[in-house]
Amino acid sequence: MTTSKSEEMSYPVDHPEHAGELEHRAPAGDPIPDPGLHDPGPRYTDVNPQAQKRADRQVAGMFGLASILIIASIVAYVAFEIETPEGVPNVGEVQVSNFALGMTLGLALLLIGLGAVQWARTLMTSPEFAENRKPLVSSDEVRQATLESFNTGAEETQFGRRKLIRNSLLGAMALLPLPAIVLLRDLGPLPGDTKENTVWAEGVRLLTDVTYQPIRPAQLELGQLVNVMPATYRDLPDHGPAKINERAKSPVMLIRMLPEELSPFDDRENWHVDGIIAYSKICTHAGCPISLYERTTHHMLCPCHQSTFDLADNGKVVFGPATRPLPQLPLAVDNEGYLVAQSDFTEPVGPSYWERGTR
Ligand code: FES
Repeated sequence: MTTSKSEEMSYPVDHPEHAGELEHRAPAGDPIPDPGLHDPGPRYTDVNPQAQKRADRQVAGMFGLASILIIASIVAYVAFEIETPEGVPNVGEVQVSNFALGMTLGLALLLIGLGAVQWARTLMTSPEFAENRKPLVSSDEVRQATLESFNTGAEETQFGRRKLIRNSLLGAMALLPLPAIVLLRDLGPLPGDTKENTVWAEGVRLLTDVTYQPIRPAQLELGQLVNVMPATYRDLPDHGPAKINERAKSPVMLIRMLPEELSPFDDRENWHVDGIIAYSKICTHAGCPISLYERTTHHMLCPCHQSTFDLADNGKVVFGPATRPLPQLPLAVDNEGYLVAQSDFTEPVGPSYWERGTR
């Protein structure tokens, strides 16, 4: 007997040799038996009023303790002197204050979470539901049923009946935003016009950063870059806010190039000393300190977002996201032969979004 092509390609169980295997298979489309809903039975607190009262007190106790800890966090915030009256940070107190804030707020949140879990485990009813998928747009009947289901849920959680728990939870939740409001104090005060000026002024000497040595023009080689600070910075009290402010605003880069390589604006003709020029070290894009100098092109690259400034051309932006040129510090030489500033910067230093007045 010959076998047709379709018979050769048929699935093996259709072959007479495999016919018995079909009997061991479930008929196609037979549903998996519905196991039904699991009935966990009553919990200890469902049948024991004493246990129920105990759980009630435990939950309320946790919420109450959370309220006390939230208030303690506010007390901790105001109790520690994190700055001396002169405005110098008090590092030891800052550490203790941070520890106290973290512990009190962390424990308060933990207790609110634990109280909610304990409430659900011991006191709320825990029936199981089977819910069929519904169309996306609910009918009025479904909405009505949802509302009823919500009301039933609200009833079963006993949120309205268990006044002690409800009120202690509401109290803790109401107090929770308070520390955040108190901590907003750390955002102030506004800088006002403190970003407007620096301590650079007429006759202020340029000192090498860190070693504070005055500089004569002859000490600078062609192509050399030196980081400098104003001499007045050295005299500010150590670690005070004024010194920190000036540390942020006053750093300057001193660079020497050939005078004929410079192309200054008309009103900047006398801002250099024999090819020595000075620019703010603070990038005008987002305030990064810059000093990646390419001496052949006179370009200064900011490492943060690659803004590039042409120091031979008035600090002009030649590439990158910065929108303002680098502010230039006018230079001169004092009667002892040291480099000094002719004045403060004639424009604000730093990123354009720093709080400023009208300059
Ligand atoms: S901070 Fe300099 S380019 Fe962004």
